[in-house]
Amino acid sequence: MKFCSLLFVPADSEKKFAKARETGADGLILDLEDSVAPPVKAAARATLGGWIDASSGPRGWGFWVRINPFDSGLAMDDLAAVVRPGLDGILLPKSNGGQDVVRLGHCLDALEARAGMAPGHVKIIVVATETAPAMFALGSYAPAHPRLAALTWGAEDLAAVVGSTSNKDESGDWSAPYQLARSLCLMGASAAGVPALDTLYADFRDDDGLVRSCRQSRRDGFAGRLAIHPAQVAGIKRAFTPSPEDVALAHKVVAAFEANPGLGTIGIDGKMYDIPHLKLARRTLAAATEG
Ligand code: COA
Ligand code: MG
Repeated sequence: MKFCSLLFVPADSEKKFAKARETGADGLILDLEDSVAPPVKAAARATLGGWIDASSGPRGWGFWVRINPFDSGLAMDDLAAVVRPGLDGILLPKSNGGQDVVRLGHCLDALEARAGMAPGHVKIIVVATETAPAMFALGSYAPAHPRLAALTWGAEDLAAVVGSTSNKDESGDWSAPYQLARSLCLMGASAAGVPALDTLYADFRDDDGLVRSCRQSRRDGFAGRLAIHPAQVAGIKRAFTPSPEDVALAHKVVAAFEANPGLGTIGIDGKMYDIPHLKLARRTLAAATEG
């Protein structure tokens, strides 16, 4: 399954769902949480079940649903409505740690059996930094639960619980508490051996800013990004796909080590390359092949 670009789609909008399917996003996240107002959540949940049934044939994108959080009183109804053939995964908001993945995994075990689905088919992505306790539990996703597919993070809900008046500094970058959340998400995902996905870029008319920001995400180690608008998908994909120069250098590094199996460190074009560079080069080539 690919995770480079996952597009949020409010589950109460058939029009947006139709449009989202044409974007080329690797996955669509049909949202039952905050983009759907409480009075229409039940209707959205019911409609969503039909959309999942209608999408159960072959298609080029993953079908994800963001359910409401465990403490909302709505999560079980959401899960009961959407775990059916055609669903690929659940995005769990406000996760407090690995124990929430285990809990969700047990629910999915039962609901998959009821739906006649292959055990373990439905994967889980957690939004791992939306509560204060969650910030102390980023290491708890390792070792990874078999259903855990990726970690992502969120800055808005965390700001609301912490009481930050803004999560950005004067220059528009994440302020220190939110840089910490972002970094811990990356480390937690790496410790668990799953991809980290950077949080959404809210200014959906700023294509250049999005691409710049995604390049930083890729540089730091994120494997993809959440999108909120169809116009963001192409920019995200472009920014996360290694450039021809990156790919050429990666080929050069791999070839140099393959030609010299007895060497742990090699000079290429006046720079030192050792085993971490070789690992990185292989990662770059894998990302280029997936793209
Ligand atoms: N998925 C699919 N289609 C979308 C979309 C999305 N996430 N966001 C916008 N569109 C559609 C609009 O319906 C519109 O379609 P139209 O041309 O047929 O009328 C078109 O893309 C252009 O949209 P635009 O006018 O630029 O934006 P908007 O003001 O209609 O919508 C948002 C802005 C933020 C409300 C919208 O992008 C959105 O709903 N995003 C997802 C929000 C979400 O799920 N949040 C949860 C995670 S934080
Ligand atoms: Mg939220």
